[in-house]
Amino acid sequence: MKDITILSIESSCDETACAIVKNGREVLSNVIATQIDIHKRYGGVVPEIASRNHVDCIYNVVTEALSQAKLKIEDIDLISATYGPGLVGALLVGLSTAKGIAFASNKPFLGVHHIEGHIAANYITHKDLEPPYICLVVSGGHTNIVYVKDYTEFEILGRTRDDAVGEAFDKVSRVIGLEYPGGPKIDKLAKDGRPSYSLPKTFFDDSLDFSFSGIKTAVINLVHKEGDKININDLCASFEDAVTEVLLSNLIKACKMKNTATIALAGGVSANSYLREKLDELGKQNDIKIYYPELKLCTDNAAMIASAAYFDHIAGKSSTLDLNAVPYLKLGDKLRK
Ligand code: KG4
Ligand code: ZN
Repeated sequence: MKDITILSIESSCDETACAIVKNGREVLSNVIATQIDIHKRYGGVVPEIASRNHVDCIYNVVTEALSQAKLKIEDIDLISATYGPGLVGALLVGLSTAKGIAFASNKPFLGVHHIEGHIAANYITHKDLEPPYICLVVSGGHTNIVYVKDYTEFEILGRTRDDAVGEAFDKVSRVIGLEYPGGPKIDKLAKDGRPSYSLPKTFFDDSLDFSFSGIKTAVINLVHKEGDKININDLCASFEDAVTEVLLSNLIKACKMKNTATIALAGGVSANSYLREKLDELGKQNDIKIYYPELKLCTDNAAMIASAAYFDHIAGKSSTLDLNAVPYLKLGDKLRK
């Protein structure tokens, strides 16, 4: 089959990113301009500021991706961009840029689902990974257990009913005075702690759904009640342990339900070292193969978008240039034309 080289743009939240990927798995360049330093003074992402910064960065990010890959637009077969879910103003910057490049260079264009991108990050790190498998998508905005039936076919088996896992990490970290984004900081502090605080965990008998607001609220109440007496390292370890127990319990149920012995992790929280360690243990105990993306592909990037675009493209999917940004796009929605 002919090689397919894809240029992708990702701008759904606070990273302006452009990547060039060959045949869905080989990264030729992967440029990310993060706005974390700008947003951390506000304790979270400010949508309007994010959009303005995407506008400022996008030209240089795209130019840099082409230059690092030593390619020109003429060498690219397909232009793609995230079209949802995400912050609408932020999405529009990357999407409009990609559509503009596609129009000006007369190349085909394809809109990509951000979560499908997170899942596809695994194909870059693991050349041997093929569907079907169970994927746990855990990011700042999403918590889903997905049955990846095929490269472009997804079935949601469980979702959060309130906070996303990453959101809970970020809210807990704010209450203990850590900077945004809190996930990596809690990860680090928990390494020197023990899970000694008992926190409420929510399990649903009849579904693989999640609820993390109980754990989050219990941590916040504990911090207010104990004040300076609180052991921050132990608190972080207890929070991670409670969240991980709930995630793993549903994952094992999902494997049984779909008779699958492969689990992949995806999304920003899949960078969490405790979650990875516990998942590895679960894999060994139950003879389940565990995959996770390399660290730099866990959080938002455009290489994962190019990988998802490749599998969509070879499955015959395409988009027209009137594709709009869809902030609340659900996984499995067939909004593409
Ligand atoms: O996937 P992502 O970059 O953006 C979204 O699509 O939401 O995920 C960002 C989230 C943030 O909530 C951040 O705190 C969390 O991922 N995160 C982590 C870690 N690294 C990033 N959470 C726990 N442990 C980490 N090491
Ligand atoms: Zn993301």
